[in-house]
Amino acid sequence: MTMDSTKLRFFAPCPRGLEAVFEAELHSLGVPTTTKTEGGIGFTAPWSSMYWINLKSHIASRVLWEVGQSPYRSEDDVYRAAYALAWPDWFTPSQTIKIKVSARRCPLPSLDFLTLRIKDAVCDKFVASRHRRPSVNTERPNIKLDAFLDQSTVTFYLDTSGEPLFKRGHRVMSVEAPLRENLAAGILRLAGWSPKEVLLDPMCGGGTIPLEAALMARQIPPGISRNFAFERLLVHDEKRWGHLREAARAKQVAAVPAAIYASDHDPAMVKIAQRTFQGAGVGIDIRLKQSDILDLEAPADGGVMVLNPPYGVRLSQPDELQSFYPRLGDWLKQRFAGWRAYVLTGDARVPKQIGLAPSKRIPLFNGALECRLYEFLIVQGGARRRLTPPTKI
Ligand SMILES: C[S@@+](CC[C@H](N)C(=O)[O-])C[C@H]1O[C@@H](n2cnc3c(N)ncnc32)[C@H](O)[C@@H]1O
Repeated sequence: MTMDSTKLRFFAPCPRGLEAVFEAELHSLGVPTTTKTEGGIGFTAPWSSMYWINLKSHIASRVLWEVGQSPYRSEDDVYRAAYALAWPDWFTPSQTIKIKVSARRCPLPSLDFLTLRIKDAVCDKFVASRHRRPSVNTERPNIKLDAFLDQSTVTFYLDTSGEPLFKRGHRVMSVEAPLRENLAAGILRLAGWSPKEVLLDPMCGGGTIPLEAALMARQIPPGISRNFAFERLLVHDEKRWGHLREAARAKQVAAVPAAIYASDHDPAMVKIAQRTFQGAGVGIDIRLKQSDILDLEAPADGGVMVLNPPYGVRLSQPDELQSFYPRLGDWLKQRFAGWRAYVLTGDARVPKQIGLAPSKRIPLFNGALECRLYEFLIVQGGARRRLTPPTKI
């Protein structure tokens, strides 16, 4: 029996606020039945769908394979549930492991102690059947095991992704306050951007948003340049994985259908973005330049603008806030009629400062920071008048 002849259960976490667009993405990747929870989606699918999602999802943070679930009341119950699982069928004792336990409303007092008990159960299982135990490596483990406890049930997962999926392997160096790649992709999806529309990111920093857009437009799988933890599992099917990668590569298109523009006023950022775009193979797809945002003219009659302004403006420089956002509002009204603009900010005063009425405000989390993505529909002489209260998604 191959892994593909059975349906397996998976859970894929995503940034909070992106559950709906992630669910739509999973449907488009061929997963019909999904269960949405806060911070992720559960689904049942064959093994090769897990390969496909790791490779192709722009929004998943990781894909966890659910290997067991059991009711529990005590630490010993958790030990027994972990011991009952067929760990030696999935990896070898020469591979290192890391166990991560998380819980919601778990009545047991110590997650550290539970972690230890699960580790003991896994190691005891290996000693009983292979006479050797795997060792723990919390820094760079070969195999990551997750356990999640609610009030009465413990669920065990093997992490099929390894490094989180937002690490695409394209970053050439770190920049200040970059967006995570899956959040950038989620913003594009929330904006309803289609690759046929012109896109502009005039505060592009390291270029995360335009890069995600170019990958989407060229249908380059976001995971094509990286490795995955499933490649280290005993049940990994190298042949099937090779075929899927080739099938994904074959779907790539040669050029973006509509222009993608990116700029930043900081020459160092422009240089980093340029190297990143080139490294990802989309250097020719993104029209990048150095410019202050307020010096830019609209590059087309209509399109989608995505703005991720610096947080420093919000936190430490109220004067700059006072003067920058009204000028940004005027710039939008005067030069970008016909465009949809999306601003990601943690500062609720921004729409008022910009002087435009948002048509949507979408709660999102940038790491731990609660933000809003504001949509402004720019029409001649101002934003479209709001007839109904803004949509809250
Ligand atoms: C929060 S960062 C953007 C991060 C980016 N989304 C990424 O993922 O790397 C904000 C960027 O706005 C740029 N910026 C600030 N003021 C600007 C201005 N007046 N014109 C153009 N860019 C500006 C900064 O140089 C910085 O790179």
